[in-house]
Amino acid sequence: MLIFLLFISIHELYASELCHPNDKSALLAFKQSFSNPNPLPSWDPSFDCCDWYGVKCNETTNYVIGLDFTSDYLNGSIPSSLSKIKHLQNLRLHKIPNLVGEIPSQIQELSHLISLEISWTNISGPVPDFLANLKSLMFLDLSFNRLSGSIPPSLPIMPFLNIIDLSRNQLTGSIPESFGQMAQASKFPALILSHNWFSGNIPVSLGDINFSRIDVSRNNLSGDASVLFGKGKITDMILISRNNFEFDFSKVSFMESLIALDISHNKIYGRIPEQITDAVYLQELNMSYNRLCGKIPSDWKLRYKKDGWDNSSFFHNRCLCGIPLDPCK
Ligand SMILES: *[C@@H]1O[C@H](CO)[C@@H](O)[C@H](O)[C@H]1NC(C)=O
Ligand SMILES: *[C@@H]1O[C@H](CO)[C@@H](O)[C@H](O)[C@H]1NC(C)=O
Ligand SMILES: *[C@@H]1O[C@H](CO)[C@@H](O)[C@H](O)[C@H]1NC(C)=O
Ligand SMILES: *[C@@H]1O[C@H](CO)[C@@H](O)[C@H](O)[C@H]1NC(C)=O
Ligand SMILES: *[C@@H]1O[C@H](CO)[C@@H](O)[C@H](O)[C@H]1NC(C)=O
Ligand SMILES: *[C@@H]1O[C@H](CO)[C@@H](O)[C@H](O)[C@H]1NC(C)=O
Ligand SMILES: *[C@@H]1O[C@H](CO)[C@@H](O)[C@H](O)[C@H]1NC(C)=O
Repeated sequence: MLIFLLFISIHELYASELCHPNDKSALLAFKQSFSNPNPLPSWDPSFDCCDWYGVKCNETTNYVIGLDFTSDYLNGSIPSSLSKIKHLQNLRLHKIPNLVGEIPSQIQELSHLISLEISWTNISGPVPDFLANLKSLMFLDLSFNRLSGSIPPSLPIMPFLNIIDLSRNQLTGSIPESFGQMAQASKFPALILSHNWFSGNIPVSLGDINFSRIDVSRNNLSGDASVLFGKGKITDMILISRNNFEFDFSKVSFMESLIALDISHNKIYGRIPEQITDAVYLQELNMSYNRLCGKIPSDWKLRYKKDGWDNSSFFHNRCLCGIPLDPCK
């Protein structure tokens, strides 16, 4: 009787195996390339790989379409065998401190990839230009790593790429002119490049884009960032703090959609235009440590109670005055 039950349950175990053999062997090769004694313990060949930790299969085709995990334990580099998981659409390797080495070139063979995130790891080397071969990619997040070198100009030209986050790396060089073509498919792309070592000017081509959000804070950028602004654009976040920007703020016009604006720690001069009060959703504001002068607009028409700014948002400028600072003389 016991043997019979055992037989039934083993039979059911195998009957319920949905995972395709090619996917399973690709995942096992992926697992085996780490140097740890037993990496990814739940990846047990006697179980359906669609039930393994971090693995997601399509419910109709049963192909492996997602790989998403975090691990303090895994040691090694990103396995090149990854490319054998042919139907992969979403790859997320997040918070794996001992993941090292470069992004393998085989990753470009994952032609169905829609979302690629390798973040909070110790991978190094360049942001490879072969990523541009991932023609279906919509979301790219390589933040919090040790990547260096400059951004390949081919990257922003990927047809569906909508969100690029390369923040908190050691990237250098200038922001490629080709980011001006980023909005081919998406009307409102997001570009997050903060905490790197980028230098040079913001390309004028970026002015043609309705970014939903742009964050270039904590770099070494210089010149004029006013192209990012403009009444009639749809941008909810502009963060350009801690750079060397130097331009006349009096000439800037603001989008109504703005929720967060941080221009602190630059060399921005001129007055704060009264028209900024059209930004009725503004929640976060910081203009401190610049060279601004004149009366702070007072006729705010905010839709929500502001708690993301106070007098410190205006400190350390040349001669700003009025609420919340001292009255103008
Ligand atoms: C993984 O790497 C860390 C840091 O280099 C090291 O301390 C640890 O011993 C390694 N573990 C294995 C199983 O290789
Ligand atoms: C699963 O595959 C089917 C058939 O190819 C497709 O129509 C469906 O959109 C896929 N589902 C997901 C979540 O990718
Ligand atoms: C990179 O490795 C160092 C040293 O092992 C570690 O302290 C750090 O947390 C790692 N970085 C990330 C983002 O995990
Ligand atoms: C910052 O950029 C300027 C050129 O705009 C360059 O001369 C300087 O060396 C850069 N500083 C750093 C720390 O990269
Ligand atoms: C930005 O979007 C708004 C609203 O959709 C549109 O009117 C405007 O022409 C767009 N501007 C640019 C520069 O694409
Ligand atoms: C504005 O930025 C300055 C400088 O970084 C900081 O000290 C201050 O707390 C910030 N104020 C607000 C309201 O964020
Ligand atoms: C800033 O505002 C705080 C709280 O309202 C107040 O205590 C402080 O004295 C102000 N500082 C200056 C320099 O006006």
